[in-house]
Amino acid sequence: MANMAVASNVMKRLQGKVALITGAASGIGESTARLFVKHGAKVVIADIQDDSAKKVCQDLDPSSASHVHCDVTEESDIENAVNTAVSKYGKLDIMFNNAGIGGSATSNILDDKKSDFERVISVNLVGIFLGAKHAARVMIPNRCGSIINTASVCSTLGGGAPHAYVSSKHAVVGLTRNTAVDLGRYGIRVNCLSPYFVSTPSAADFVERIYGGVSKVYTYLDGAELKAEDVADAALYLASDDSKYVSGHNLVVDGGHSIVNSAMCMYENSKK
Ligand SMILES: NC(=O)c1ccc[n+]([C@@H]2O[C@H](COP(=O)([O-])OP(=O)(O)OC[C@H]3O[C@@H](n4cnc5c(N)ncnc54)[C@H](O)[C@@H]3O)[C@@H](O)[C@H]2O)c1
Repeated sequence: MANMAVASNVMKRLQGKVALITGAASGIGESTARLFVKHGAKVVIADIQDDSAKKVCQDLDPSSASHVHCDVTEESDIENAVNTAVSKYGKLDIMFNNAGIGGSATSNILDDKKSDFERVISVNLVGIFLGAKHAARVMIPNRCGSIINTASVCSTLGGGAPHAYVSSKHAVVGLTRNTAVDLGRYGIRVNCLSPYFVSTPSAADFVERIYGGVSKVYTYLDGAELKAEDVADAALYLASDDSKYVSGHNLVVDGGHSIVNSAMCMYENSKK
């Protein structure tokens, strides 16, 4: 029995840690909140969808999860979310800047509206800047912390999505690298995660609009389908001490998609 207790403790990779996750009322953020709580963390869910966020918290152990209304484009909301994590649980160890939007599904720059472009940059990039800034504010005195930003496989490629989305995700990698250097002085690690297509409601809708269907999304890794839980596993690695010397990294979770140029792939015609 005593050995079993030790074993289950050893497997809890975030015991005693406090995490704030933006965009955790749904999709990748929600899966990550569930996994982090399973691994012993206290989690604050920060989202604009209050009812869904509340449901996720109720479904989890209420002593381990709480939610706060937060629009990541509003600095006062982010400031309040970070302060809530600290006042409720005493500190902030992990900031997962995950909230993001696809934007409009145009494929021609002539159809792009400046206001749409700015909205995507505001949520996907400025939201992460604000999250990193306010997480750093409370992490610096403790001289430790892990900041994780959700980018996308579109951070490594052109042509996979509209201009605003691809620009915002490339910029997330730049911001991740720069803040990793800045905050490394205080023992804070900053990394980003770049998933390939995960069939969350908003992503499925986005892919439907730009590719004409989820079935058009091609994968090179036969027999595997990327799920939100797989991205959560990658976030767990970056959040935990297992990655204690990993900083400034873009962890691409794409089954090898971004390393292939399908126009000159000799395996294309010899598929099983
Ligand atoms: N699903 C994919 O295929 C995929 C692939 C690569 C990257 N991503 C990225 O993963 C992240 C999560 O996406 P998802 O697929 O889980 O989508 P999702 O729609 O299921 O979740 C996104 C969450 O962000 C919240 N949100 C949106 N705008 C917000 C704002 N201004 N402030 C606070 N919260 C806000 C939404 O309410 C929602 O709960 C996004 O950054 C997305 O760009 C997704």
